[in-house]
Amino acid sequence: MSVRRAAAKATGTKPKGKDGSGPRHVAIIMDGNGRWAQMRKRPRLFGHQAGARRVREVVEACPELGVEYVTIFAFSTENWKRTQTEVAGLMSLFRRYIRREMEAFRAENVQVRFIGDRPRLDKKLRDLMDEAEAFTADCTGTNLTIALNYGGRDEVARATKRLARDVADGKLDPDSVDEETLPKYLDTHVLPDPDLVIRTSGEARVSNFLLWQSAYAEYEFIDTLWPDFTRDVFAELVKNYGARDRRFGGVKA
Ligand code: IPE
Ligand code: IPE
Ligand code: MG
Repeated sequence: MSVRRAAAKATGTKPKGKDGSGPRHVAIIMDGNGRWAQMRKRPRLFGHQAGARRVREVVEACPELGVEYVTIFAFSTENWKRTQTEVAGLMSLFRRYIRREMEAFRAENVQVRFIGDRPRLDKKLRDLMDEAEAFTADCTGTNLTIALNYGGRDEVARATKRLARDVADGKLDPDSVDEETLPKYLDTHVLPDPDLVIRTSGEARVSNFLLWQSAYAEYEFIDTLWPDFTRDVFAELVKNYGARDRRFGGVKA
């Protein structure tokens, strides 16, 4: 553990980027596992396994880079369209991953959360997700959010359903609904909006990730395939972010 990391853990504070302008929340669309495996003439699952191994390095780099929240897209609501073999392989990988990594995340003070629609996931996986969240609930370091069976549109639809229920139950006045209201119903309600969204593998699209939350995020689309993503690539992107001029619709003074 680095000295800064140890100090942050001891005091409960999180180190910031040098000039204070780093992204507080980075969200990552981890894409390209399949192509990485194909290039090696291996099955797609081999790529997913290699991809899963990259996550730890990214999470471990966060304190030093001043990143407090990291959110990773692991499985979308559209990924069920893949072959049964790939979907089953991914689900089994997620179960193994949670079992294997949780001790380490807790030891590193990482608080783990999941977003996405849980009922469609199998009971064993859901139980492990609950367990991991409870097990790391008192961790005060990096906030790792794993998007599993997540879709931005599905999330907004589920949020709207709960909001409508509160209106029907007389708990919410429809005239009071504004753009601060809906985010309270989203899966991400405890998270700040992402400042930087990274997508690997050369595809320049959002694929239904954090649609509401990314309204003013900065984007980085890079050619690197996810299993080749390293701490150095991550650090470079975080550094680039510091040079960006975020205007949020305004005009610079
Ligand atoms: C991203 O890699 C991981 C998931 C979507 C689960 P892909 O599996 O989409 O890899 P490519 O895009 O086919 O190379
Ligand atoms: C987005 O990647 C979903 C995840 C990274 C989990 P996809 O590979 O599923 O997206 P498309 O199909 O290229 O848009
Ligand atoms: Mg893909």
